[in-house]
Amino acid sequence: MSRPLAVVVLAAGLGKRTKVSIPKVLLPLCGRTLLDTVLDVVAELEPERTVVVLHHHKDKVEKAISGRPNLTVVDQGTPRGTGHAVQVAMESLIEFEGDVMVVYGDCPLITAPTLRALRDARLDGGASLLTAFPEDPSGLGRILRDVDGQIVGIREERDCNEEEREIDEINAGFYCFDSRHLARALVGLSDDNAQGELYLTDTVATLVEGPGVNTHTVADADEILGVNSLRDLAVARDAMQERILLEHLANGVLIEDPATTYIEHGVSIGRDTRILPCTVIRTGCIIGSHCEVGPFAHLRNAARLEDGAEIGNFVEVKKSVIGRGSKAKHLTYLGDAVVGERANIGCGTITANYDGKHKHQTNIGDGAFIGSGTVLVAPVTVGKNATTGAGAIVTRGNDVPAGDVWVGVPAKPIRKKPEGR
Ligand code: UD1
Ligand code: MG
Repeated sequence: MSRPLAVVVLAAGLGKRTKVSIPKVLLPLCGRTLLDTVLDVVAELEPERTVVVLHHHKDKVEKAISGRPNLTVVDQGTPRGTGHAVQVAMESLIEFEGDVMVVYGDCPLITAPTLRALRDARLDGGASLLTAFPEDPSGLGRILRDVDGQIVGIREERDCNEEEREIDEINAGFYCFDSRHLARALVGLSDDNAQGELYLTDTVATLVEGPGVNTHTVADADEILGVNSLRDLAVARDAMQERILLEHLANGVLIEDPATTYIEHGVSIGRDTRILPCTVIRTGCIIGSHCEVGPFAHLRNAARLEDGAEIGNFVEVKKSVIGRGSKAKHLTYLGDAVVGERANIGCGTITANYDGKHKHQTNIGDGAFIGSGTVLVAPVTVGKNATTGAGAIVTRGNDVPAGDVWVGVPAKPIRKKPEGR
């Protein structure tokens, strides 16, 4: 499709039903905010322009998305309804000609294939909108059709009579318009309705008369879930988590118990890696193949495990690289560490990376053997094939040379290791 595309993301609502101070669209969902999740889907469509409509918490939200390219933020002023929000967005699209898609910033489960199908459903010169048959349609706008099944309009629940309220097909809130027709239809909006708002849905009644309106029904009604409360957020998180886990399973990652495995968006895991129960892997982590992680492991801040590495129970790995075949199997904290290949990190090892002001790096060489209960006070290096004894405290800057054996508190060398270990 060669027509230019602009996407308008509505996110000016207050979101007071969440009852938390964090702006609703900045709530976290599997490692991204709700708004970032939506903007990532939008980016898959490669629009020429993306306009985000904000008002409440504008500064915080704008800051959170400021790194994104081709994005225009507009302030709606006091929100007066979805139609008003799109009117304001269109002021920054005056020069634009092409398709204008409207999506919500609080509907994070929408997918790019659905938005593409919505766009494809747009009649030449007309508009399309996404509908669904959710289990519970309450609160949503109902789709009105004539005897031939042709859409004639949308009625907000509050404006419905009893018969209309029985309609189980609803307006999901996603639209694709021709920019010129949208601009025209927006002019005539009135706030003569139960909420006293300018309804974007009223443009549909206008456009059915003119160039025509088509609908696309989403197969999985979960996709249109809007997050209004923390309960909704929990439901959305579950659905998103399932998608992420299914993708890893499809790629040959052995996830023993998906029900207790938490893997955020943006994690890469190689084939034949085993993820054991009650494991948390946060955004940005990279795990090679034939690794083992868990049970009860926590990987975060872009932790990287190279092929065959093993991270076991109650081990936290933060912003560290664990080399090929290296193991930390029990009760360990590895933060800001670079571990070489085939190293063995004993039970209870701690990299003391933080001096109260700054974080420091720990280096552990290939083949090193870190005894149980060792504390490595960073910055510090344990050389190749070096050993620390159980309970050793290696103090900052006192690097253990390759092949040495250091023990005690503070750790001191006891003897050279025999060559070739
Ligand atoms: C709207 C639709 C309804 C549809 C429902 C799907 C209208 C009139 N009704 O309902 O048919 O079933 O979505 O969820 O469009 N927003 C703004 N500025 C505003 C008002 C809303 O940016 O002035 C944003 C909100 O932040 C939210 C989205 O638009 O992201 C939808 O607003 P919301 O009030 O939840 O939708 P409804 O009007 O209830
Ligand atoms: Mg509303």
